[in-house]
Amino acid sequence: MIRAGIKGTGLYIPPFVVTNEDLSKMVDTSDEWITSRTGIKERRILIEGDASDMGTEAALNVLRNSNVKAEEIDMIIVSTLTPDMFTPSCACIVQKNIGAVNASAFDINAACSGFLYALNIAESFIKSKKAKNILIVAVEVLSKIVNWEDRNTCVLFGDGAGAVMVSEESNKGIMSIYTKSYGDKGDSLTCKALGLNNPFVRHKQENIKSFVSMDGKEVFRFATSAMVEAIEKVVQDAELNISDISKVIPHQANYRIIEYASKKLGLDMDKFYINLYKYGNTSCASIPIALHEAVSEGAIKEGDNVVLVGFGGGLTCGATIIRW
Ligand code: UT7
Repeated sequence: MIRAGIKGTGLYIPPFVVTNEDLSKMVDTSDEWITSRTGIKERRILIEGDASDMGTEAALNVLRNSNVKAEEIDMIIVSTLTPDMFTPSCACIVQKNIGAVNASAFDINAACSGFLYALNIAESFIKSKKAKNILIVAVEVLSKIVNWEDRNTCVLFGDGAGAVMVSEESNKGIMSIYTKSYGDKGDSLTCKALGLNNPFVRHKQENIKSFVSMDGKEVFRFATSAMVEAIEKVVQDAELNISDISKVIPHQANYRIIEYASKKLGLDMDKFYINLYKYGNTSCASIPIALHEAVSEGAIKEGDNVVLVGFGGGLTCGATIIRW
């Protein structure tokens, strides 16, 4: 049976560090508040360049780690809600930069769950033999859309890129994958697109700023239940038990959300890989960044059952279980 597996991982983390202490000089907050409510100590911010630059670096990192040549890539999917421009897509810019001349390339947006949505698409193409190697890049420059005067949100987010190469496998790879959206709950986490810009519209045009706005408590409630539900679903679909999980790579939004899921599932906290204290919430990039670090540190071994799980704007959620 053909399965889709992860042949290699990669990342790019911008070097500029912003600590909680730095933020406490900009808004009315403190290291104590941010650490106790979220677990975040610092985040990285992109000072020069754009999403495609970070995405390209992460992609080159994956090419080195997966032993796949750029010309052997059939498809590039970039997950982002902060692309360089509306067109060309971030994926087409990455394609040009890495010389993946045989690929079709496009962007998707499912906010923080975007990496899992991209993986779900990639799995379908691999299993139906329409592609052999698919590069997924998940990249965010959230610093562009954060309101740096709003303490409710500016302390939470960071920039970064993670990437994977998805290829054909036989005895390992994705055992089940699930994504789900709740459009009716979308108002609790928003960022408006551009305002109207045409001379034919007579009514007063709103001065729209593209800032993230979030009802933290509402999203917290959703995140805790969605995460548990999504993990239970993929484990059941793979005909496994919760106790068969070797490692969980969760979306890195808040330590307390992960702790809740750990208790609810009866799965020890040491099964959850956590790096949010150093990068904050990098939206869809957080899972592939954490996955790359977990693999590099030897926290994931061959034969492990690895769960990836995410939730976020849309609202959206998703999970997968992968035999490593
Ligand atoms: O990746 C997308 C998914 N997003 C998430 O997963 C986020 C989910 N939500 C959360 O992680 C949490 O709800 C937050 C970390 C955003 C907030 O934690 P909370 O425990 O829900 O705090 P809260 O919103 O109830 O705020 C408590 C208090 C408020 O003051 P009052 O009204 O009680 O006087 C806030 O104004 O804390 C205040 N506050 C802050 N104080 C210091 C809010 N932000 C800050 C801050 N520093 N940065």
